[in-house]
This record gives sequence, structure tokens and C-alpha cells, in this order.
Amino acid sequence: MRHATEAMVERWRDRDEISTPMDLASEFQRLTYEIVSRTVFSGALDDDRVRVHANMAIYFDTLGRIDLASVINLPTWVPTPANRRARPALKVFRGVVDRVVAARVADADRKVVDLLDRLMRAPDPTTGETLPPDAVSDNMLTFLAAGHETTGNALAWILYLLALYPGSESAVLEEMAAVFERGPMMRERFDRLVFTRAWSTRRCGSIRRRRSSAARRSKTTPSWSIRWRQGRRS
Ligand code: HEM
Repeated sequence: MRHATEAMVERWRDRDEISTPMDLASEFQRLTYEIVSRTVFSGALDDDRVRVHANMAIYFDTLGRIDLASVINLPTWVPTPANRRARPALKVFRGVVDRVVAARVADADRKVVDLLDRLMRAPDPTTGETLPPDAVSDNMLTFLAAGHETTGNALAWILYLLALYPGSESAVLEEMAAVFERGPMMRERFDRLVFTRAWSTRRCGSIRRRRSSAARRSKTTPSWSIRWRQGRRS
């Protein structure tokens, strides 16, 4: 996490023109994608980020919206305009995760054990069978999407809100300087960020409530609730 964050900060510092506006939402999506790829899948998805993000934009723009087909619960194989537009994106996601799963199957003696290895090796408590590769890919996609889009958005909102409340921004910066002045950013120290944690939970909580009612009004579905099983090959 630290390496990915430090690389991001370097990128920001290296910009030619420091006053050029920056798309923080996509910066944080990149950061959290790299973090989930490295912490959960040992970096196996690092090289696919640009392709995955480009196709995620198409995916959320089509299946992320509620239309007549979703209201009457049509099966996902029905070729509605949204399903047809989303299909190539889903194919890309499946291609990416299937490739990684196949590589792991071929490398059965791997010493490093990450979440993907655990998913592949864990026996069903009743039958003793392991998950078939298709189900492993489904789970991997869920972790990839659920594990980075949410956290990326949360970070972007936190920075946006800090910019709106300069008094809070100063208090957060002061607290961070005090907590981290004598050492690296280790997990244990985060518990000491009392003001920062309380502030971001409260502010983001109020945004979440406003976003949910806005989503209800605009009849769109929050992106995390998309069902990845729509990506199955059938
Ligand atoms: C700010 C951060 C996050 C927020 C706000 C968030 C929010 C949520 C919500 C609301 C759900 C329920 C979705 C539903 O019932 O339809 C969910 C499910 C889930 N989240 Fe998160 N999440 C966050 C971070 C993460 C991370 C970091 C991971 C894993 C690395 C993760 C993995 C999952 C998984 C596996 C599910 C279950 C999905 C399913 O059953 O289809 N989430 N999350």
C-alpha cells in the first residue's frame, strides 16, 4: 500500500505544471486498483489496469442503470441494448481473470499464498471439493470490483470534502503530522487519527445518504450492486 501511494505522490510531484487540474477520482481508482491487485492477488492484475478501467466505464454506464429490462427482471442473456453494449466489457474482465486463474492452476507448487490461492485450494466443508475455475474467476472479479471502486471513490470524496472545509483540512493535516512525525505510516498508528477518522466517517456518511436518495431519484443503481454473474459465459 505504501509503495503504491508513494508512487502516486511522485507522479503528482513530477507533473510539468503543478497548477494543471488533475482527475483525482481516476488517480484514486488507479491507486486502489494497484493496492487490491498487489495485496490480494500478488500483483497478477497490475498490467491490465488500463484495459479493465476503460471497460468498467462502459460496463457501469450500461448495466449500472435501471431500465425496463431490469424492472421486469429479464434474464441477462436477452439481447437488450444495455446487455449488448456491456458484453464486450464483460468479455474483457473474464479474459483477464481467467488468464490469471489458469496461470495459477499451472503453478500448483507456488510458495506465496494469497487470497486467490486460498480460494482455489479451500475445500468445501461438506463435500471436500474445491471451487471450479469458473467460480474462482467469479469471486476474483467480485473482489477486484468491490475492493477498489468503493475505496477509490471514498478517497476522492474525502479530498473533495476537505477542499470544501479548509478548517477541517488544517485539523486533519495537523493530526497526521503529529501522529506520523516519528515514524512510518504503520497500521497501528491509524487508530490514533481520532479526528480524521471521525470527520471522514461523518462527512462521507452524510454524502452516502444524499447519494442514495439522489440515486433513487435518478433511477440509477449504485455501481457496487451490479451482479458479476452477468459475466458468465452462458
Ligand atoms: C469504502 C470502501 C467500501 C465500501 C463503501 C464498501 C461497500 C460495500 C457494500 C455496500 C456492499 C454490499 C453490496 C450488496 O449487498 O449489494 C459490499 C459488498 C462487498 N464488498 Fe465492499 N465496500 C468497501 C470496500 C471493500 C473492499 C476493500 C473489499 C475487498 C478487498 C470489499 C469486498 C466486498 C465483497 C467481496 C462484497 C460482497 C459482494 C457480493 O456478495 O456480491 N469491499 N461492499
